[in-house]
Amino acid sequence: MKRDVIIACDFSGKEAVMDFLGRFPEDCKPFVKIGMELFYAAGPDIVMELKAKGYRIFLDLKLHDIPNTVKKAMSVISSIGADMVNVHAGGGIAMMKAAVEGLTRPDGSRPLIIAVTQLTSTSEEMLHGELLIGPGMEETIVKYALNAKEAGLDGVVCSPREAALVKAACGSGFITVTPGIRFADAAKDDQVRITTPADARRLGSDYIVVGRPITAAPDPVASYNRCLNEFAD
Ligand code: C5P
Repeated sequence: MKRDVIIACDFSGKEAVMDFLGRFPEDCKPFVKIGMELFYAAGPDIVMELKAKGYRIFLDLKLHDIPNTVKKAMSVISSIGADMVNVHAGGGIAMMKAAVEGLTRPDGSRPLIIAVTQLTSTSEEMLHGELLIGPGMEETIVKYALNAKEAGLDGVVCSPREAALVKAACGSGFITVTPGIRFADAAKDDQVRITTPADARRLGSDYIVVGRPITAAPDPVASYNRCLNEFAD
């Protein structure tokens, strides 16, 4: 599988995302991540429009509901043309299996589907004290990744530092998609545990998700190319 850089298009509306992507050369169509803010503001049209222009899309909606609801929602998501989607592994194996079923088109094809194990905003303290999960963070992440694999998912979203653990438990073909990426010489913003694109590659990331280091850069195209170069072999 080919490693790639996914640009987190955390913009508040369609015009802003189109302006941003318009800065790239005509023949450069990056893999883009559309999150809840943009999707709820712009609706499914934004996905269909970007697909028609040739972009690949990671629709980051993190579904988590009863299996039947997730299955039906995934069937809609599949029909609008996303290339990668996700669910919360906390919804359980039956929910994740239902998500795969809903996503699968009549011809057997489907978008990639990955699971969020534990959000990086969840601390070890919160895991035990609030969520009442006994085992530690790493053990929980590995178990949720194994559940995702058992349900037939393609991989997980995790920090690059967890990518090696996930690969060891689930196999090298199990995809790791990793945010929290910063250039060695740049601001961390609100990210705490950050990794450079080159370190993410060394740690086993298959896809890095990069937002502000590209979207807020004076020259986003140069920053995107720098990410690609540092993340490549
Ligand atoms: O701007 P920045 O590079 O920090 O953006 C990272 C993107 O990845 C954002 O869309 C953020 O919501 C997402 N993300 C994250 N950490 C996670 C999961 C998703 O930063 N654990």
